[in-house]
Amino acid sequence: MSSLYPHAVPGVYARWQALRILLRERFLLEALRPLREDAGDVFFLPLPGMQVAVVAGAEAARMALVTLRPLLSSRLQSDPVVQLLRSGMLVIDGEAHDRMRRIAEPFFRPEYLEAHAGRMLQQIDRRIDAWPDGGVVEMDVEMRRLALEILLDVLFKLPEEAAEELWEPLQAARAYIAPGAWLLCPRIPRPSYRKPLQRLDTLIREFIRQRRSEPDQGDLFSAWVQRTDMNDEEIRDQMTTMLIAGHDTVATWLAWTIALLAWHPEIQTRVREEIREQLGENMPDPRFIHRLPLLRAVGMESLRLFPPIPVLNRRALVPLRMCGVSIPSGTRLLISIYTIHRHPKLWKAPESFQPERFLNPEGEGMGFRYLPFGGGPRFCIGAPLARLEGFLALARMLQRVIFTPLASPPRPHLRATLDPWPGVWVRVQRIAVRGSTA
Ligand code: HEM
Repeated sequence: MSSLYPHAVPGVYARWQALRILLRERFLLEALRPLREDAGDVFFLPLPGMQVAVVAGAEAARMALVTLRPLLSSRLQSDPVVQLLRSGMLVIDGEAHDRMRRIAEPFFRPEYLEAHAGRMLQQIDRRIDAWPDGGVVEMDVEMRRLALEILLDVLFKLPEEAAEELWEPLQAARAYIAPGAWLLCPRIPRPSYRKPLQRLDTLIREFIRQRRSEPDQGDLFSAWVQRTDMNDEEIRDQMTTMLIAGHDTVATWLAWTIALLAWHPEIQTRVREEIREQLGENMPDPRFIHRLPLLRAVGMESLRLFPPIPVLNRRALVPLRMCGVSIPSGTRLLISIYTIHRHPKLWKAPESFQPERFLNPEGEGMGFRYLPFGGGPRFCIGAPLARLEGFLALARMLQRVIFTPLASPPRPHLRATLDPWPGVWVRVQRIAVRGSTA
């Protein structure tokens, strides 16, 4: 491709097609398809006054995430994610990043996480108990509340009331970092966010003050507070990062998975049968998850079709060469996980929901064509927590309720995560199982 288009700039016809898709579907990532087909796996977006390159292939993604990592910075200073997270692990580089990662890592190990499985299941059951039998529930909102409660309990030993207090400010923070006009005009004033973001800060500082007066709780929060080399400012940044990165992503994944199951009732029935065969009416348990291959495959296929973080941001610190394409210093790189996950040379029938492809790992191996949690040294630190709570929640929900769809299926909408729009509205019908209130 690079010999046809040495500068990796898509041709006029491809741009025209991209524009038509953009106007029809109002979804930028889908519009990248004709551009990639025309200009190859690394190409420049034809934007006036901006140097933006898209990474849309597995080998190019491997280079960006591993080989060339020291030559890339994570984000631009003007990016609202950086404004919000400041020195949070997600947006810093080098030794400062590695240090924060080392401190947090023990709290994402299986032995730590699995000790919380019982409490997670209580939280999951409480939420299911509140759904009216035969009623309509907005699952994306339910899953966001559930993921927030679990996150606060596992990493910060904070009660449900904290989730309630944080809810509104966190919704404002989600909206603040979602793609918008600021991408083209970074200095555009956004006064409506000042108050809710201040409220988020105040709450987090109050939690820190409170924790400083308490004994060690054995969680990540206490680990930060007890360190003499971390001040309140740093703790605020790491905590905001975990709150933002750790609840919305899981919630979006679960909401899309419920939508896929609701709109594919035959697969929903097969997964429920698998759960019944393996668990009967017993509570799901971390040890049983590997005995639910179809459930796992459904979760993985959902992450392939609708990766909650569909694009990763990087910036070239020096001139680079990537898959034959020259990238000038300062270029903004968008690693489009969404496009890679639907690349026809990497996946059979990439647009269809086929969980079976993940039942046979040899059939469709992984590598850098499957990147829901990123890759390389910045691989999502929270992936083990996400998988544990996600599969426990899915197994328990499918044990206890049947999801039936309303209206038409949701469409992907690029916000802070790849949201299902206009939401996942489903009818829930209870199944009587032991230990439930049905
Ligand atoms: C399904 C759920 C999740 C998905 C799809 C997801 C996705 C990702 C991706 C793609 C990255 C790489 C970002 C990059 O390279 O720029 C990442 C990083 C990160 N994630 Fe997750 N994530 C999930 C859940 C979580 C959870 C539960 C937590 C924390 C409790 C978390 C915390 C983080 C943090 C702190 C980073 C930055 C890691 C680093 O830079 O070293 N994530 N996540």
